[in-house]
Amino acid sequence: MNWDQARKLLRLARTRSESADAARASVDHARHELGAAPRAHSLCIASGKGGTGKSVVSASLGTLFARRGRTLLVDADLGVGNAHILHDLCPPHSFVDVIEGRLSVRDIRVNARPQLDLLAGGSGVSRMAGLSPYELHLVAVGIESVEQEYRHVLVDSAAGISNQTIAFAAASDVVLIVTTPDVTALTDAYAFLKVLLQRRGELVPLFVVNRATCEEEALHVADRLRGVARKFLGREPRYLGWLPDDRHVVECVNARSPVVARAADAPFSQAVTELSVRMQQEFARVPARGVGRSMLRSVGYTPGLG
Ligand SMILES: Nc1ncnc2c1ncn2[C@@H]1O[C@H](COP(=O)(O)OP(=O)(O)O)[C@@H](O)[C@H]1O
Ligand SMILES: [Mg+2]
Repeated sequence: MNWDQARKLLRLARTRSESADAARASVDHARHELGAAPRAHSLCIASGKGGTGKSVVSASLGTLFARRGRTLLVDADLGVGNAHILHDLCPPHSFVDVIEGRLSVRDIRVNARPQLDLLAGGSGVSRMAGLSPYELHLVAVGIESVEQEYRHVLVDSAAGISNQTIAFAAASDVVLIVTTPDVTALTDAYAFLKVLLQRRGELVPLFVVNRATCEEEALHVADRLRGVARKFLGREPRYLGWLPDDRHVVECVNARSPVVARAADAPFSQAVTELSVRMQQEFARVPARGVGRSMLRSVGYTPGLG
């Protein structure tokens, strides 16, 4: 796409009264195609099962990433988001305002700490869990319109294997599955992996074992997940390490703070800091495709046809 095409799209978007985000994204897209705008590396923290520690890990990784460069935390639990709670925020707006046409994604951003911004999910808005392709398109366009301002985009995924949950993961450069040693978490991690690989066959998902009591336990859990994936999918996720079950995590959740910010010396903080270094190494291995941009291609909505 060149500038002329982008301008045409801009006019088209305006005449169709599509959102300001869509217009901006077209221009941003052109800028990127012309090589002017580097995009953020994106990481999706996912799991299958709820309560495995996705948001806790995202809050700490977001805090650590922000020390290296501007970071955008996207709460992809669009209907029952709680990423804001872990940063002690009470955002006035959320993705609900974007879907209902009141605000652009740019307008719902809130600053969580230096160099860390958040896009909040709704609080108890059930219909946000099952967006239409057009609504997902709006979310993707909005993220695309801001993502090039950041070095990292971190997606705190919802649980489950719904279309929109998988869409966020499939569009991210790197996917990190968080499981616990519980057999139910492992089963759901496998289910998530299966659906994700159906959508994006070339991806090598990574995983961590959270809430392990020791390394032996984590390695045992890792072997089980890799074994079942090898047997039934013919593929293996890559084990990236483990995070200890640590009482400081609960204390920090209750204090509404990322663990690395409030309890920097806690065992969990040390392990998640090592994980953050490994994630930077993973980013260096893959091109930054832009999570919004990749989602735009995959959500199946074509402006003018929907
Ligand atoms: N490593 C850990 N040690 C102790 N408790 C943890 C740990 N990780 C998560 N938890 C507990 O699990 C709860 C759910 O974590 P959360 O990140 O909200 O899960 P998810 O986002 O996957 O639904 C936290 O509020 C915390 O009490
Ligand atoms: Mg969560």
